[in-house]
Amino acid sequence: MSRTPVHIVGCGGHAKVIASMIAAGGHFEIASFIDRAPAEGTRFLDRPVVAEEAFLASGAGEAVVFGLGEWLHRAAAVARFESAGFSLFPAIVAPSAIVAPDVTIGEGSVLMPGVCVNAGSEIGDFCVLNTGAILDHDCVLGRGAGLAPGVTVGGGCSIGSGAYIGIGASVSHGRTLGDGAVLGGGGFLKEDAGAGEFWAGIPASFVRNRVPGETVL
Ligand SMILES: CC(C)(COP(=O)(O)OP(=O)(O)OC[C@H]1O[C@@H](n2cnc3c(N)ncnc32)[C@H](O)[C@@H]1OP(=O)(O)O)[C@@H](O)C(=O)NCCC(=O)NCCS
Repeated sequence: MSRTPVHIVGCGGHAKVIASMIAAGGHFEIASFIDRAPAEGTRFLDRPVVAEEAFLASGAGEAVVFGLGEWLHRAAAVARFESAGFSLFPAIVAPSAIVAPDVTIGEGSVLMPGVCVNAGSEIGDFCVLNTGAILDHDCVLGRGAGLAPGVTVGGGCSIGSGAYIGIGASVSHGRTLGDGAVLGGGGFLKEDAGAGEFWAGIPASFVRNRVPGETVL
């Protein structure tokens, strides 16, 4: 069976893991990596690195995956590609991820090795479920939400658009993180976190409001 060529945006660690997932799966093959301004002749993982501007001008139609871990950078890249007419953004699921059959996964989302997603959950567009993250039953992840490695989210949680749960943190069942909310690494959230709020600790408490445009990674 022939594999669909896919281009990966980014040349960092997140892109590298996605590349290894694609190599291990049977659906896609990596055509190139794309970076904002690579030096002439740059290669990454033995593939050419193409300048984004030239790639965007070369015409839409190719499949693209965004290998950028920080949502604000990913969101900006998605917007640039969409304005250039690109619309083929496959979800990439590691072969070792365990995903219940009724789970829905939006375009451009990435489920890394060892992820587990239980029945009834809905994963929005351009989400990242990083290595070993667990999303239990009936959860909803908004567009661009991110679960760092080793995160555990209990059943029936709602994680807003662009919300981020840091490495090793846990969310008790039925809780909500509003859009752009952040739970710091190692924390345990047992209350709801409002939009744009940063919570941390065990149990997590409110730390501060996030500044618009603030990155996590
Ligand atoms: C979200 C995060 C980046 C915030 O870090 P930050 O910007 O340095 O945090 P702030 O400067 O706003 O810290 C404010 C206060 O909260 C504390 N704090 C920050 N993160 C904390 C955490 N994860 N747990 C407990 N307390 C934390 C700080 O010590 C500080 O306390 P102080 O005022 O008493 O000095 C960080 O908590 C985090 O989650 N990092 C993990 C990133 C990750 O998941 N990496 C994996 C990528 S694959």
